[in-house]
This record gives sequence, structure tokens and C-alpha cells, in this order.
Amino acid sequence: MSGARILVVDDDATFRMTTAALLEADGYDVDTASDGQQAADRLKDHQFDLLLVDLRMPGIDGISLVEALRLWGHGVPILMISGFGTVDSAVRALQTGVDDFLLKPVEPDVLSARVADLLERRPQQARVEPTAVGIVGRSAPMRALLERMKRVAVTDTTVLITGETGTGKELVARGVHGLSPRTRKPFVAVNCSALAEGLLESELFGHVRGAFTGAARDRAGVFEAADGGTLFLDEIGTTTAALQSRLLRALQEREITRVGSSTPIRVDVRVIAATNVDLKSLVSDGKFREDLYYRLAVYPLMVPPLRERAIDIPLLVEHSLTQLRTRIPTAGTLTVSPLAMRLLRQYSWPGNVRQLLAALESAAISAGDGGRIEAQHLPDEIREAQDNAHSGARYKAASAPDDERAAIEAALAHTGGTLSRAAELLGMGRTTLWRKMRAYGLSSPTLDET
Ligand SMILES: Nc1ncnc2c1ncn2[C@@H]1O[C@H](COP(=O)(O)OP(=O)(O)OP(=O)(O)O)[C@@H](O)[C@H]1O
Ligand SMILES: [Mg+2]
Repeated sequence: MSGARILVVDDDATFRMTTAALLEADGYDVDTASDGQQAADRLKDHQFDLLLVDLRMPGIDGISLVEALRLWGHGVPILMISGFGTVDSAVRALQTGVDDFLLKPVEPDVLSARVADLLERRPQQARVEPTAVGIVGRSAPMRALLERMKRVAVTDTTVLITGETGTGKELVARGVHGLSPRTRKPFVAVNCSALAEGLLESELFGHVRGAFTGAARDRAGVFEAADGGTLFLDEIGTTTAALQSRLLRALQEREITRVGSSTPIRVDVRVIAATNVDLKSLVSDGKFREDLYYRLAVYPLMVPPLRERAIDIPLLVEHSLTQLRTRIPTAGTLTVSPLAMRLLRQYSWPGNVRQLLAALESAAISAGDGGRIEAQHLPDEIREAQDNAHSGARYKAASAPDDERAAIEAALAHTGGTLSRAAELLGMGRTTLWRKMRAYGLSSPTLDET
């Protein structure tokens, strides 16, 4: 991609100059910045196709720069370069949303090749746009999952989707169906835990008249309804032994019999099962048939918990705001404040994406006409978790306090030093704030008694 614009950010002038010369020789248009602040300023006024960022710089370092860019949904590809090459920093950088990582000294040929690679990849990196199947996320684990979905979709293989509650298992199941040649045929979802055993059996396989009391006429089950398409069996771990053996037969023979009948009916159904319990351990406990497990788990898809893909949070937030703007009349110009966004990114989300969407919906309603979600609009547990994490961090000397100190300073400046309003903005109690200010040596504001 000759003519592409590249920004080189490094405090080392020699590196800046040699790298710029090298990249210009490769036909790129190169600009430089000597620290994170300068880079951020350049990015305000100019478009770049790629950023080369040094990890360690005075002031705003490379990771903070990348974090800030990704936080605001900036999708520019980033190649991070570091002289302090530890595995730790590389891993952290990649988690932050860096696309590639190189250690100094950088071989010119290697640099040229990586830069070309990243520029090639660029057109595919459409961001906030959900993928064809409506799954938002560009973190490495989600990209890998999508790749596996695409591979298995074109086959008829049974898929087992695992993951904590609210991670998007059903969305993934619909996605596999949507990407498969069966896409124009039915996708039928059954929650196995929602029906009593007998009812579930008849729901899945149908029944004939007189099969049981109340069976007034013949009825087809979902295996027949989904013929040619996909059958999604949610919470498969809750099924009974009798039902498991019927399912195994259906999968093996590709035929079913309605309850009360012995006439086999051929069905062409792709089965996708999901579970948020560990099926393997149910097998060890004798609660799930091992042979059925292996039938189902031919090609497992693991949906990672949201806390393991925190870089997707801003994208999910943006996606959700777009939806909320159309659904909530007062949410027309809805945005999220930087502090609220930080809290959203740092929370551990035990209820995963579902919990995030619910939190945003409730915050959007609380924000009302203001149109901006502030920390105080977020559900208590999210603000409290932040508070607890930081009181713990004080004793562990984690890197968080720098951030926290800056947040406190900003909140105090914003509220003119009014402690109670600053505390509200930060989502912490007044005493906690007071204690933290003393710990950070921040000057005491006029104590307002409210
Ligand atoms: N990556 C994503 N992009 C957009 N929306 C998502 C994503 N993941 C989940 N969602 C949304 O989050 C909600 C929960 O997802 P889903 O119902 O698929 O979760 P689940 O894993 O099946 O949960 P459970 O185990 O509780 O059944 C849905 O509204 C879904 O559309
Ligand atoms: Mg589900």
C-alpha cells in the first residue's frame, strides 16, 4: 500500500529518523511525534493508516496512548516497538489492542515486512460494524472464534458451544447457522431446561395420538420442524439419561421416532448444543453420557468471558448506544463519559455481555435528557467494584493508583473541589475519597457538609 500515511511515535530521535527514512524509501508518507501527547495531537488533525509506537516514553507512554485510542474506538492498526522487550509488556500491549509487536533492535527487512502486512490487513478491520452474523468484537479471542465458526459452518458437524452465562452462545449458534448453507432453512431453538422431561421429549421428537393423556392428535416435534436447517439445543446439560439416549440415536441414525410410535422418520438436521456448565465434569459424575458428549463435542466453540476481552467493551458500548438511541426517546445524542467508560472497562462482568447491555440500558434511562452516561448513572455493583478494587490495590502497589490519582484530580477540578460531588462523579463514598486524597497527598478542598 504505497503512499500510505504512517506516524512514528518514539522519544528516541535517532530511531525516529532512521525509521522514517526507511519507510519513506519504501514509498510511504511518514510523520513523526516524540511522545504520546504529540501523537494524540497529530491524530486529531490527520488521518493515518498505521502507527508505529514505542512502548516506553516519558509522559504518556505507548500503552496509555494505545489504550486511549482504542477506548475511543480508534481502529488504526498499531505496531508497537520496544527496547525493553519482556514477554509481559508484549502480552500487555497485545491485550490493549496493539496489532503487532517488535523488539528493538529492529531489522529493517523485518520492519518493512510487518508494516506491509499490517497495511494489507487494514481493509478487513472494519470495527464497530458487527460482523455479518451480528457479533461485535475485534479482540484476538473473538476473531479466533469467528474463524472457527466460519470453518465449521460449511460442514454438517455437530457443534458444542460452551461459555459462561450471557457470553453470546445463542448469538454464536445463530451465527453458525447464518454462515452455513442451511441459512435459508429454519433455525429452531429449544431450551432443554425449560420443559419437564416428558414434555421435552415430545417437543423434540413429536408424538402420535394417544401416546399419553392429552395427546389428542399426531404432532411433529422440532427435529421435524427444523428439517433441512439447524436445531439449537440450549442447556443440554440439564437433560435426563432417557432423553440423552434418544438424542444419541437421533444424531447417529439421522432419524427419529415420534413418542408412542415405532415408525422411524428421516431428518436432515444440523445440531448445535450449548451449555454453561462443564459437560466434561457431568460426564465424570455419571450425569451425562460420555458417548453423547463425544458426539456433540466434535468441534467445540468456546465463547470467552467478557473480562478476557475487555478491549471489545468500548465497541459493545458503541453498538449498544446505537441501538438505545433508536429505542429510548431521550437517548438521541447519548454518549458515555470517559470515567464511566473506564469503570465499564474495568468491571469483571460476571453476567458478561448480557449484563453490560442491561447496565447501559438502565444508565441510559437514568442519564435522561442529559444525553451523557456518567459514573453515577451506572449500577451500584459496577461503581462499588471499582472502589473495592482500588482500596485493595493500595496495599498491592499496583499501577492503578496513577490512574486513580489522575481521575480524582480531574473530578475535583471538574466540581470546583466539592468533595461530595467529586465523590459522586467518581462513584465512591465521601470518606473513601477523603482517605484516598490524603494517601495521594492531594490538597484538601473546602469540606462541604452535606
Ligand atoms: N459479541 C456480541 N455482540 C453483540 N451482542 C452480543 C454479543 N454477545 C452477546 N450479545 C448479546 O448479549 C445477550 C446475551 O447473549 P446470548 O443470549 O447469546 O448469551 P448466552 O451465552 O446464550 O447466555 P445464557 O448462558 O444465559 O443462555 C444477547 O442480547 C446478545 O444479542
Ligand atoms: Mg442462551
